[in-house]
Amino acid sequence: MDGKARVIFVLGGPGVGKGTQCQKIQEQNEEFVHLSAGELLRQARESGSENGEVIMQCINQGTIVPAEITVDLLRQAMVAHGWEKKRFLVDGFPRNEDNYQKWYDMMEAVEVEYCVFMDCDVDAMAERIKARGSARSDDNPEVFKKRITTYNEQTKPIIDRFSDLGKLRRVDGNLDVDSVYEQMLNILKD
Ligand code: ADP
Ligand code: C5P
Ligand code: MG
Repeated sequence: MDGKARVIFVLGGPGVGKGTQCQKIQEQNEEFVHLSAGELLRQARESGSENGEVIMQCINQGTIVPAEITVDLLRQAMVAHGWEKKRFLVDGFPRNEDNYQKWYDMMEAVEVEYCVFMDCDVDAMAERIKARGSARSDDNPEVFKKRITTYNEQTKPIIDRFSDLGKLRRVDGNLDVDSVYEQMLNILKD
């Protein structure tokens, strides 16, 4: 870990298309690695992590897992990919104050370039989750509502903070996948 890892946070509400965009960017642009915080948590739970119980409870309540757990998983994944070799698209993080503070407390040798905010109407996000048709235990109307509450109350203030710091890049997430992708590429050029 001689050099710095370069990180771009990608935030937006549930179902906005964070995973879709980050995956596409990773596939079509060699310098990027996509890391979904939610996906890392689901994998940790499925692989029998000692934190499996708390992860499952938070996911099923639409609340945020204690940040030590998530930051550790992100760090391990970044090390596995080669710390300073790539630009990491960290999707779904930092979701609240705890995520934000622990990231800066626990992570050294990291440069956060900026945060991309995928902005979208709640109704469109609800439709997209429905259409996703996943087997995820939190992809149902009841937990979706709780995830939106968490997003409004805890994630939006973090998005505002990046804006105040001059580190927010907004895209219109209401548009189709290709149009959003075009906006993403425009941002990632810098
Ligand atoms: P997130 O990771 O933000 O929760 P996903 O990338 O999993 O969201 O996308 C949620 C669902 O919406 C998926 O079924 C995906 O195919 C679809 N989707 C993603 N982006 C768009 C878009 N711009 N327009 C319409 N549907 C989209
Ligand atoms: O981003 P994704 O929709 O995959 O997140 C699913 C769930 O994982 C969230 O609702 C939350 O319970 C958990 N999560 C978390 N902390 C993060 C990202 C996801 O607790 N930084
Ligand atoms: Mg996702």
